[in-house]
Amino acid sequence: MILSGSASQALAAALAVELDCDLGVVDYETFPDGERMVEVPSIDGRAVVVCSTPTSDAHVELLLLQDAAREAGADEVVTVLPYMGYARQDRAFSAGQPISARAVARAISAGADRVLTVNPHEDAVCEFFTVPAEPVDAAGLLADPLPDLVDPVFLSPDSGAIDLAESARDAHGTGEVDYFEKQRDYETGAVAITPSEVSVAGRDVVVTDDIIATGATMSEAIAILGERDPRRVFVACVHPLLAANARLKLANAGVEAVYGTDTIERAVSEVSVAPVVADAL
Ligand code: R5P
Repeated sequence: MILSGSASQALAAALAVELDCDLGVVDYETFPDGERMVEVPSIDGRAVVVCSTPTSDAHVELLLLQDAAREAGADEVVTVLPYMGYARQDRAFSAGQPISARAVARAISAGADRVLTVNPHEDAVCEFFTVPAEPVDAAGLLADPLPDLVDPVFLSPDSGAIDLAESARDAHGTGEVDYFEKQRDYETGAVAITPSEVSVAGRDVVVTDDIIATGATMSEAIAILGERDPRRVFVACVHPLLAANARLKLANAGVEAVYGTDTIERAVSEVSVAPVVADAL
């Protein structure tokens, strides 16, 4: 049976179709003091808990769902983290700080037999879980919603996302791959990008990244591209977190369209990761 976090219902439904298995209807509640509660149907066999954790409340909801699944009879709990929150906090940046990704991974491991997570910021985050954990690669799906492109360039806004650009280009079938270099000021969140010499005049550009959070990285990259007279600039990401005014920043920078997956359910979630998650299960 598939069980869903409240923010992952569309993906859970798509996964149930892919796997041809039951989709449990979960009741979600928030008590007057802010505490969360869930209630799941009775389960016979394996429970697959699908729950992105973009917020701290979602983390708690996941822990409750895992526990409820066992209480309801599951003999195995497989947790799917379409988007794993806190994964980017994979080190202590100064003395006295936690390794937050490790802390949440350990907590999740306490209620799971196995964990899958879609394109975590670094695959190494899987080593923080104390149960078998593996990444699922959805990068190839980023080419699905793209229109016909003219002499395309697939560009990553920093060197860490070049694999995504290559996967999207390979899935699209043609195009050049390039990347910019990025430096972030962790005090202010400001992003400075050092562009490459790639020529984009008259060409379509697809900027790919794993996450769009504040939109600072993408909007800076698009602004630089805009000075080089591209035909159109598209943006494709796995996790369209799009916090606060990120979508406005992208529009203002001149993006033609934004495409994301349903690891985080947003208006731009044009692609479902259900097929690749189903394969991994
Ligand atoms: C970091 O290296 C990631 O790949 C993304 O580039 C980053 O998380 C995006 O964050 P933001 O949208 O806040 O710039």
